Amino acid sequence: MNYRHAFHAGNPADVMKHAALARVLAYLGRKDTPYRVLDTHAGAGLYDLAGASAQRTLEAEDGIERVLAAPLPEPAATLLAPYLDAIRALRAEGRRLYPGSPALALALSRPQDRFLFCELNKEERAKLEKRIGADARAKILAQDGWQALSAHLPPRERRGLVLVDPPFEEPGEFQRMVAGLEAAYRRFATGIHMLWYPIKDLRAVDAFRRDVGRLGLPKTLRVELDFSTVRALDTLSGSGLIIVNPPFTLADEMRTILTALAPLISKDGTGRVRVSWLTPGG
Ligand SMILES: C[S@@+](CC[C@H](N)C(=O)[O-])C[C@H]1O[C@@H](n2cnc3c(N)ncnc32)[C@H](O)[C@@H]1O
Repeated sequence: MNYRHAFHAGNPADVMKHAALARVLAYLGRKDTPYRVLDTHAGAGLYDLAGASAQRTLEAEDGIERVLAAPLPEPAATLLAPYLDAIRALRAEGRRLYPGSPALALALSRPQDRFLFCELNKEERAKLEKRIGADARAKILAQDGWQALSAHLPPRERRGLVLVDPPFEEPGEFQRMVAGLEAAYRRFATGIHMLWYPIKDLRAVDAFRRDVGRLGLPKTLRVELDFSTVRALDTLSGSGLIIVNPPFTLADEMRTILTALAPLISKDGTGRVRVSWLTPGG
């Protein structure tokens, strides 16, 4: 396991994923009753974009830095405000920080909400402990995220989000995603399930979408953004999310958000947004 998210934090794929995460949490937060987030592949939790890893790739320069610097049109600006305000609050003391899914989820939630973060890599987990471990709402587990889908679902709160965001550095990750989604849905059919995937190998992505569709889970939304027209098997040309049981507002919100962000965070300045239902929902 060599993957380190610090090289990629705040890149266009992170922006898309975290913008969606923020909208889902805004929706869950509309009701006072507590919810739980199970984040199966948590990473280090919080990243310093001025640090050596981020500076080596400069990926955030094409992602979050452009978004923070640009005037955004309405209504995208309002929809993105919780996410962007959380980043600005982190940066209030002048450091160029970026929240990974754990720090962002905690920043956007309430005292009654609970969180399980799985991270298998020892060093990444130690960073996660240091950065968010003091938050009593969060439990950090040295557990395989795929196993956690069986072990920790359904949550006691019976409402919440399952976020599955593996590194895609080993073969078979798409198949594990499909099997993981099926297992998680069986235990927690009312939960929101959000899965991130890279768009590199178009045939693999097509097969994945087909396999997810074949599960026949009601209300399965596909959201994709291409941020490069360069297609190569080892180059990320876009990223996608599968969201089962999305908030009823999410399809329209993501279309609005990504249409506003695409010209900013895509390499050729255009980008391509796809939001559609793999199984009926809207
Ligand atoms: C893409 S990063 C997570 C980024 C994070 N979700 C975010 O949005 O900020 C994937 C993480 O999963 C960890 N990982 C890899 N395989 C795992 C597994 N089977 N269970 C739990 N964590 C795993 C890696 O060490 C890495 O830190």
